[in-house]
Amino acid sequence: MSLLSTKHLLGINDITSDDIQLIFKTADNFKQVINRPIKKVPSLRDVTIANVFFENSTRTKISFELAEKRLSADVVNFSSGSSSVKKGETLLDTVNNILAMKVDMVVMRHPAPGAHQFLSRHIDASIINAGDGTHEHPTQALLDAFSLREKMGDLTNKNILIVGDILHSRVALSNIYCLQKLGANVRVCGPPTLLPKHIASLGIAVSHNLEESLEWCDAANMLRIQLERQEDKYFPSLREYSLQYGVTLPMLQRLNKKIILMHPGPINRGVEITSEVADSDQSIILDQVENGVAVRMAVLYLLAAQK
Ligand code: CP
Repeated sequence: MSLLSTKHLLGINDITSDDIQLIFKTADNFKQVINRPIKKVPSLRDVTIANVFFENSTRTKISFELAEKRLSADVVNFSSGSSSVKKGETLLDTVNNILAMKVDMVVMRHPAPGAHQFLSRHIDASIINAGDGTHEHPTQALLDAFSLREKMGDLTNKNILIVGDILHSRVALSNIYCLQKLGANVRVCGPPTLLPKHIASLGIAVSHNLEESLEWCDAANMLRIQLERQEDKYFPSLREYSLQYGVTLPMLQRLNKKIILMHPGPINRGVEITSEVADSDQSIILDQVENGVAVRMAVLYLLAAQK
């Protein structure tokens, strides 16, 4: 059996393009499994996985839990809001206490960029990053690229646009690394205030013109405006933002081709995209969610095989 080059999944920056292809090949098989009447395989029987969430989540948390259960793993869920973190326990103590109960793998979301790297230097169990602040969200990027590959085939030389709040987005950085490793051309588009100053140094194109960028791309990933991470005002109003950077159906109809529309969720309907676009046949938003389970099964299965 082929193995990943890493014991943890901390970020896309830390894995190779061969790792990504192996995850995709494995996810292809698991996608078949979860579409069968019996959706469960015994691959991770006797493996215990803790889902440790220090930040809110709908998609990622449910998707990991389903992936673990489809693989027959034993699952425990931890949410910081109802835990002894509230009494002042440190991250390392919290995780070490969970691991002392014979947990084999930790899936963690944490608001601090680098929290997973820190933990990986102190604990033996495999760690999967389910989002660390504004840094990386590797499984989101993998499921995004997997969904694009399903619709477009090989992503080499495909033009992929990422629109919106790049500054606060862990999805953007992981997507940029992942798409580049797969040979795609990447462009980001948004207001200057929401694009990090040195973003072009990653080897991507930068634009502030949405209509022109839509003409350029084969697929557009519309990122959520992360109001909860914005202490300052980065644009005059949500209405102003959506007028300049929101995708509407007439805008798509003016293009001389049919592009793919993506969104990692949760959507601010009427801000990043209108409801008509979100629910149109060009949107693959729910395919992304469906593929998330197969991709996360592949990641868990391949990391467990390292033992
Ligand atoms: N895409 C994503 O990470 O969504 P959740 O915050 O709901 O997990």
